[in-house]
Amino acid sequence: MMTKKYQETTVVEYERNGDVDVLERKTRPLREPGADEVVVEVISTGISHIDGFIRSGRETAWADEPFPRASGSDFAGIVVVADAAGRFRRGAEVIGHVRTGAHARHVVVPTAALVVKPPHVSWEVAGGLYLAGATALDMLDDVRVGAGDTVVISAAAGAVGSIEAQVAKHRGARVIGTCGDRNFDYLRQLGIKPVRYGEGIEERIRELAPDGVDALIDNFGQDGRELAERLNVPPSRYRSSEDRRDTELRLLQDDPESVAHGTAQLQRLAQLADERAFTLLISGFYPLDEIAYAYDDLQNLHSRGKIVLGTHPVTTYRTLKARDVHEARA
Ligand SMILES: NC(=O)c1ccc[n+]([C@@H]2O[C@H](COP(=O)([O-])OP(=O)(O)OC[C@H]3O[C@@H](n4cnc5c(N)ncnc54)[C@H](OP(=O)(O)O)[C@@H]3O)[C@@H](O)[C@H]2O)c1
Repeated sequence: MMTKKYQETTVVEYERNGDVDVLERKTRPLREPGADEVVVEVISTGISHIDGFIRSGRETAWADEPFPRASGSDFAGIVVVADAAGRFRRGAEVIGHVRTGAHARHVVVPTAALVVKPPHVSWEVAGGLYLAGATALDMLDDVRVGAGDTVVISAAAGAVGSIEAQVAKHRGARVIGTCGDRNFDYLRQLGIKPVRYGEGIEERIRELAPDGVDALIDNFGQDGRELAERLNVPPSRYRSSEDRRDTELRLLQDDPESVAHGTAQLQRLAQLADERAFTLLISGFYPLDEIAYAYDDLQNLHSRGKIVLGTHPVTTYRTLKARDVHEARA
């Protein structure tokens, strides 16, 4: 039996499709965990475009799901009720994933959806790791990015793109990343060649890759296929924004096979983050109660890294962010 303390929790829900104003904070009973489940107190939880698309109705794959609906698939937190077999003891620090409902103070989840949080991976990073990171690894695996490849990644300073670009580099690839002027320094610091998106991009890429491009991953969904064709990237080594959408929806399935795949990717990500094979910048860290502001920030489409919500933030979103300080100086 759960102790009284964990019988209810706070969740973010919505009763109808719409903009951020449909999001409501609710107190809900916490269901009793099954034998292979634990209760996790959420410390941090990422927000993703796909959550916003599902909420607004633009993404119709989940249109039949009943209301009220919850949101959020990534979280990091502390186990407060252990599973019967003791796979995760009370107090264990974990990173996990759920189909939906991570935007909450507690989640009840199967142990199969959890990995141990490496102590040196911060809570902010851990909470935003799953969907962006697993999507990045799936896309890199799909196009078989490896040593010696030259790969172009669009929106390379964003959440998915920045993980893809750094992991591709870690695998020994030469990486060209598309971004706006503001992100040139950031990508250069990572050893990624920045290239401005928009008119003339093909010529700019050719200048940076005179021996050709082996693979192209389009995160942003503008002219990617045409660009890949013009750069003679074979179709098997090109992934579109639509492919990425399909990957994300697969990573959100909760059948045992999908959960096992997602957790295996999360385990790889936790290890890569622990080894500093990539660094996930936190583009904005908002209190859970300020989720609407967090989505507004995400929808500006200029994140540098990942936007994450915290359930115990010690500072508020009003704090000047590192990216703003950098830009104010520029
Ligand atoms: N097809 C789908 O269903 C699907 C699913 C998920 C995400 N997406 C889309 O994928 C994109 C990136 O996703 P994410 O999660 O990585 O988002 P993100 O973190 O919000 O990515 C933002 C990045 O996009 C860059 N960007 C802005 N305008 C661009 C343009 N015209 N061309 C190339 N890059 C541009 C920005 O770079 P600068 O600040 O340097 O401009 C910024 O670093 C979003 O637009 C999102 O809507 C599509």
